[in-house]
Amino acid sequence: MKRYTIAYLALSFLSIQVWSQNLSAKQEMKDLIDENFRFAAAQYKVLQQNTGLTVMPKTFDYTSNKLVTSDTKWWCSGFYPGSLWMIYEHTKDEAIKKEALARLAILEKEQHYTGNHDLGFMMFCSFGNAYRITGNEAYKEVINTAAASLITRYRPSIQSIQSWDSSSNFKCPVIIDNMMNLELLLWASEQGGDPKFKEVALTHAQTTLKNHFRPDYSSFHVLDYDLKSGTVARKTTAQGAADSSAWSRGQVWGLYGFTVIYRFTKDPTYLNQAKRIASFLLNHPNLPNDKIPYWDFNAPGIPNTYRDASAASIMASALLELAQYATKKESANYIAIAETILRVLSTDTYRSKLGENGGFLLKHSVGSLPGKSEIDVPLTYADYYFLEALQRYENWYIVSGK
Ligand code: GLY
Repeated sequence: MKRYTIAYLALSFLSIQVWSQNLSAKQEMKDLIDENFRFAAAQYKVLQQNTGLTVMPKTFDYTSNKLVTSDTKWWCSGFYPGSLWMIYEHTKDEAIKKEALARLAILEKEQHYTGNHDLGFMMFCSFGNAYRITGNEAYKEVINTAAASLITRYRPSIQSIQSWDSSSNFKCPVIIDNMMNLELLLWASEQGGDPKFKEVALTHAQTTLKNHFRPDYSSFHVLDYDLKSGTVARKTTAQGAADSSAWSRGQVWGLYGFTVIYRFTKDPTYLNQAKRIASFLLNHPNLPNDKIPYWDFNAPGIPNTYRDASAASIMASALLELAQYATKKESANYIAIAETILRVLSTDTYRSKLGENGGFLLKHSVGSLPGKSEIDVPLTYADYYFLEALQRYENWYIVSGK
């Protein structure tokens, strides 16, 4: 009897120890998240000061030491307003909200834009967050119109949404990134919009599943289709190291995109695809121990080449959602990796100091190395998905107590 009592006490002591270790690890993450949002509120006021009233921040040019901006048609125009909304949601800083509203006002007209496939990035990251936080029905209308604009690019003969217009380089390019624009369509349909939005989104996802992936579940960047025959004319890249390489941001767009499709459909085909992409990425020998990917998993010169903080923050955010749908063991791994990424991105190696880097949060992203543009610089989407991942971690793994 005495032996049982001692064993029982020892077990209870051990469980209390594990429980309190978990609690302090969660508190540590909560502190890290709170500190990041406080910093973001201060740093984005610097970004605001550097950004003209009719344009959006794009990146920072270290040669001229100046912020680079874009017009509102640039594919990234939704990230700055979206980040402001997330910062406001966390800090309740009214000055940040005022700036978020001002930026929506200059972006709103792009709901009618049909010049590329990026309406999801532009209008859902911005107005989607604004609607979620404020419930303002007018924002829903903007999202609906943007969805209608996006599906004008659907091409029935290839069962896909055309990404970029045809050019001397491409007949009808469809890029893996396009998976990220489908959330806009699925959400709009679910909220009472045209059922065609959902139909187009799922047809596009099926075609991507069929044509974009290699047997190891890495993906090509650009598929150039022949509209007449409806076949793939060429599998190539625009931003990757080679046609056959695994361009990091493309891989994580796919991971995030298929996770979102599963959220809306609960079709295990999409969940399995997301898990297979995750497995390709997380078991790749070229994924560094700190989990911040090089700009391409097959980049020449690894380890002496650039990391891509944007790919890291997108991957962290996607893994945190995928963890919601995975087995306990898979989830623990996905959450642990996302946590590592968030911790590493919060260190001085990756995070700006107040007032530096034009007001961006993160350094060390790569836009297009082959295009010799935006190499090793801050980018709005690195910041956006970093904030989203922090918010997801807090909402799903701290507040809800999982
Ligand atoms: N086209 C989006 C990107 O550069 O990731």
